[in-house]
Amino acid sequence: MATAIRRRQVKLMRSWPVMAVSGVVAAIASVVAAILLPGVATAAGLVGWAWYRGWPASKLRNIVLAVLGSTALAAAMTADPIWPYHTLETAIRQAFSGQWPEAVTNAVGGQLVLAAVAAWWWWHRYTLRMQSGVAGERSEKHARRQLLRRQREAQRRIRREITPLSRPGRVVLGHRYESTYGEVRLAGEYLLAKDRPWIEIPLDRLQLHTAVIGETGAGKTTLLTRLSAGWTEAAWAEYVRRSSQPESGSTVDQVNPRPLTIFVDAKGGREAPDAARSWADAMEALGLDPRRVGVFPFEQRLNMWQLPPRQLRASLHALASTDHEYYSRLQRELLHLVVDAPDGPPTSSVGFLKKINPDALRRSWRGYETELQSIEALTASRGGPSPMAADLMLFADLFRLLGSDFDAGRPLADFDALYISLPGTVDRVVAEAKASVVIELLAYELATSSRRCLFILDEFSAVSGEVAGSVIGLVERLRSLGGSVVVAAQSYEGLAPTPDERERLLGAMGGGMLVMRTQNSGPVAQRAGTRRVSEVGRQLAGTEEGSLGTVRRQDAFLLNPDRLRRLPEHHVAYVLPEEVQWGVVTPLEPTKRLPSEVIVESPQRALPPAGDAVPYLQLCADRQREVDERLRGWSA
Ligand SMILES: Nc1ncnc2c1ncn2[C@@H]1O[C@H](COP(=O)(O)OP(=O)(O)O)[C@@H](O)[C@H]1O
Ligand SMILES: [Mg+2]
Repeated sequence: MATAIRRRQVKLMRSWPVMAVSGVVAAIASVVAAILLPGVATAAGLVGWAWYRGWPASKLRNIVLAVLGSTALAAAMTADPIWPYHTLETAIRQAFSGQWPEAVTNAVGGQLVLAAVAAWWWWHRYTLRMQSGVAGERSEKHARRQLLRRQREAQRRIRREITPLSRPGRVVLGHRYESTYGEVRLAGEYLLAKDRPWIEIPLDRLQLHTAVIGETGAGKTTLLTRLSAGWTEAAWAEYVRRSSQPESGSTVDQVNPRPLTIFVDAKGGREAPDAARSWADAMEALGLDPRRVGVFPFEQRLNMWQLPPRQLRASLHALASTDHEYYSRLQRELLHLVVDAPDGPPTSSVGFLKKINPDALRRSWRGYETELQSIEALTASRGGPSPMAADLMLFADLFRLLGSDFDAGRPLADFDALYISLPGTVDRVVAEAKASVVIELLAYELATSSRRCLFILDEFSAVSGEVAGSVIGLVERLRSLGGSVVVAAQSYEGLAPTPDERERLLGAMGGGMLVMRTQNSGPVAQRAGTRRVSEVGRQLAGTEEGSLGTVRRQDAFLLNPDRLRRLPEHHVAYVLPEEVQWGVVTPLEPTKRLPSEVIVESPQRALPPAGDAVPYLQLCADRQREVDERLRGWSA
């Protein structure tokens, strides 16, 4: 028994150095683990978070910069330039003395910079490798997974955050989740790139005119509504800022035009009045004076009689168009007689109808031989009513049809925001004629008084047949007059009836395109141009991928047409020559936001409108009386 105990004692005494060594090793190992693991876990956590959120490497770089900044700040405050090192030392000491929680905390603090840099470096390398396509299908999976995560994140931000309508000089459309660049980016560009979370449209770009393309239900109208509100806020901010600068003085209007937002819905239809009213409500919620927000033709009329004679003739002729060449000529002649009369053009439909009268015309044109002969020709009757009588009926009918829409209403100068609804799907001819008149009115308004105008044409294809030409003209003219045109259509082909006109229209639009989901994405992608990408090829050894491969730099579409075809609803690609920004549109929710301070507090806000040239009821009564009397005269 005693020998057994003794033997064990000897054994123990022999093995104690081994045990002591292993104890020290275990202690050191746990200290090292306690010190290193927090750093590794921080780095891994950062990478994991970036992976989960679909972050690009530049976001981790920003975190590195932020950590570096705060480290430097802490160093300055503690007067210890190498405090992370000292903190780490403390952590090691604490670990040896068994203060584990304190040791772990200090270890995290001491290695934060290192961990952040390591995470960034690793994520940068990894994303680059995946983007290069070296890893084959895994690369594609990575790209798609990260894209879906970023999209989900953008959508979450839309729900949770209040997206601003505008930033100085820029309109905010929604949340951005990706950018594709046309050129390789240099290190400086990459480092200086601001990861702004929004799709922003600079006002200067809008000035160059923009096209919007997207199929039904993709969210065009929602986008355009937001665009109009954002533009209004941004343009008003500039307007108010400039007009509060004292040196502008009396020439304020020349150098500082008042913003005017016009939204034309060319589709019309049953929901048109509601859509119009909700747009106007949104503009009023923004802070615009309700008296200066118009809804045409449901609540306000415009006034085409203020147009100069030549445009007035053309507009009337377009509105009362007949297919018959002979009558068309006679009508033009009659319009010349009535509108160009030496005693001035008519100022309302009543005045116009009054003038379609042989005696009145003869009186006006006394001394003008040619015109007097025309009057005789127009009144000559060959059985049936004379051409003049036919025209009288035609125009009387026209004014009844138009329902006084353009008749002695308010001038465009009266409005800061105007919604124009045209019955494109119901009556295309009337809609096209009205669109032409609106464009004439706008061109006249911009030429005579200085306004800064955003002219949005939604569902352009509903009127583009006759109007395409005048819109192209408007686009080409408007830049010098201070207007921006935004044209929206359901497809690339909907932008104009012929390829030539389409090319001309898009050629004049230098402000890029806003593209939503569209099936016919080929031509759009072609317009956007290409960028250089690397294409990786692998050699096969039997059926396995071998270690040899090739890389080729080649052109690929800057705007991927397949991606456009499969784009989720409400997503948009903002296509510029140098870059494509992908994002989700934030719908405008007037209940979620306060009125815009710049507009509400502006002294210019409540500029009194001039109002209707002739009150509506009086106009109707006068016209009815005029037509009744005249027709009675004829039948007698
Ligand atoms: N960004 C968005 N977020 C949520 N819903 C949207 C968004 N954009 C559009 N919608 C909804 O989708 C539907 C169709 O949008 P709309 O703008 O009318 O499309 P389009 O004009 O292209 O036919 C509408 O009911 C609208 O409320
Ligand atoms: Mg729409």
